[in-house]
Amino acid sequence: MKNNTKYLVTAALPYANNYIHIGHVAGAYLSPDIYVRYRKLKNDDVIFISGSDEHGTAIEMASIIEKITPQEIIDRYHFSNKKAFEDLGIQFDIFSRTSSDIHHKTAQEFFLNLYNKNILVKRSDKQLYSEKEKRFLADRFITGTCPVCGYEEARGDECENCGSNLSPSELINPRSKITGDIPVEKETTHYYFPLGNYQEKLSEWIFSKTDWKSNVINYCKGWFKAGLRDRAITRDLDWGVKVPVEGNDGKVIYVWFEAPIGYISMTKELFIKRNEPDKWKEYWCNKDSRLIHFIGKDNIVFHSIVFPSMLMAHGDFNLPHNIPANEFLNIGGEKFSKSRGNGILVKDIVKEFEPDVIRYTIATNFPESKDSEFTWKDLQSKNNNELAAILGNFINRTVVFAKSKFCNIIPGDKSLDNSDTEILNQFKESAASVSAFYDNFRFRDALSETMNAVRSANKYFNDSEPWKLIRDNKERCEAVIYTCLELCHSIAVLISPVLPFTADKILKILNKDKSDFNWEKIGERVLKSGTELGESLILFPQIEDSQIEKLISESTDSTAVKKTEMPENVIELEDFKKVNLKIAKVIECEKVAKSKKLFKLKLKIGDTEKQIVSGIAEFYNPEDLIGKLIVVVDNLKPSKLMGIDSHGMLLAAKTDGQLKVITVDGEINDGAVVN
Ligand code: MF3
Ligand code: ZN
Repeated sequence: MKNNTKYLVTAALPYANNYIHIGHVAGAYLSPDIYVRYRKLKNDDVIFISGSDEHGTAIEMASIIEKITPQEIIDRYHFSNKKAFEDLGIQFDIFSRTSSDIHHKTAQEFFLNLYNKNILVKRSDKQLYSEKEKRFLADRFITGTCPVCGYEEARGDECENCGSNLSPSELINPRSKITGDIPVEKETTHYYFPLGNYQEKLSEWIFSKTDWKSNVINYCKGWFKAGLRDRAITRDLDWGVKVPVEGNDGKVIYVWFEAPIGYISMTKELFIKRNEPDKWKEYWCNKDSRLIHFIGKDNIVFHSIVFPSMLMAHGDFNLPHNIPANEFLNIGGEKFSKSRGNGILVKDIVKEFEPDVIRYTIATNFPESKDSEFTWKDLQSKNNNELAAILGNFINRTVVFAKSKFCNIIPGDKSLDNSDTEILNQFKESAASVSAFYDNFRFRDALSETMNAVRSANKYFNDSEPWKLIRDNKERCEAVIYTCLELCHSIAVLISPVLPFTADKILKILNKDKSDFNWEKIGERVLKSGTELGESLILFPQIEDSQIEKLISESTDSTAVKKTEMPENVIELEDFKKVNLKIAKVIECEKVAKSKKLFKLKLKIGDTEKQIVSGIAEFYNPEDLIGKLIVVVDNLKPSKLMGIDSHGMLLAAKTDGQLKVITVDGEINDGAVVN
């Protein structure tokens, strides 16, 4: 019998227009896999859902660029990514796709549910249209100059240079990314989801969550502070889930509206496959079932705000129980990025190393509370100095001893004494602490506690000195080696969420089936004296310098290595001095009409006054800034943003997705030079 509470664990649906890399794995896939494996060992009723996110403009864009159909794009990446996950031991109960019929149907039903309740708002709006291409240009199909930083290749939805969120109408000199055509404004009608109406209910719900991670809560606070706005949930596109209301030809449901519904449709599909077509409801609708979304930080707003408010509007489904979002895993201090060529693809790395070594290295570096790093050197050292030296060593020395001194037979357990029961009990305690960490999504702590247990097994071996006992007290020696073999079994269970392949190998070495492969059996005696052991093998062969050096020189880390010698982007002091940074006092601040992002500010800089335009309106009320002392680039070439002159740029930093203006306290006069 399984435990009562049901767990529905989801991992963000990866877009089927890219190969998944280890940054994805660290963000949203390995921790849920570990969590689900742990829950299964605890006899919990858990299912693990994910699949490819196969709509959206990026896929349509890729198909246009490569001159093949969107279907060909998604097939390529879906099957490749599915296999990559399998190779890495990420074991979903289902890994489906949003192009399936059942998903289209489920998403349309969801849309209609809200539509029929008159929750959706229909609104006409002007949008950029290409006469030449005879279609509306989605945000990403438009490029132009960023109104915030002046970058000339900014996308209609985001500037990759300065990170500002943009809308296409804010771009200076917008043009079609595909044909270069200059678009015109044209009227179009879309459905909006009134997100703002849910702000009160949402914030009450989120702030009642005392056990959620602070990064998630802080993100939400920022969004609430800025105020939630209606969101268009339809698009003028060909590729996607058709809007199921008449008179909307050529329109699809916005990918971020339908993709999370994929969690529902894929649960349905799973139980259809299992021949229990109604059972999905138990996971989505039973009051005490727990929906847990594993995601990377770039997905927080959709999972903690947008999707929950959709679920509130619908009414039939549970809200998420938790959203343990991770930060990013970087390589050599840089964000993974295909364009910079520093992403390590899963399909490539699994050819180079055993999956458990990769899993272990990523898990010890999980970006749980801040961004973290992956390096090849670290992988080598984790394999050689931890996996081989601690874990492999204990298993190996135990079975080698049993083989040479006891003919590969599990020795007798007659003279077990206190020290033996003590170490077994210690393992039970370790299992309890590891549990507590997993229950609270603290994977790094769980893993270090796990390795500490293995260390204590090594200490027990050393302290018991079986190599002396074999001469002086054979029966005690038998008891010690018997205990060590029991510890090998306990270790196999304890490490298996993180190192499932290794756990299987240990069972083989012990010649033991899975009948006691259960969390409760950690620290218990499950082996039988007198039975034969299996064949021993080296669990973690050394990774040689030459292999690592080859990888470093071939790819990725080369940037990181160069960096320690000489950062690539050093500038001369002279370069820095070209920038006139000055302290300025904000004397006026107002929103730019018709712009979501822009403020017009009047600044006092010593004896002069000047006007600048800045893309911070989403993060501040104008009155918050008045009177503040800030830092500006005083000698920036003047520009026009939405027709308004800007004579400088203020400094701001992005944190948790929020732009914060750099302020100084009143000890400095405006006009003072910063250098
Ligand atoms: N495809 C999105 C990404 O890779 C994630 C979608 S998650 C879901 O960022 F909620 F939409 F399912
Ligand atoms: Zn920019």
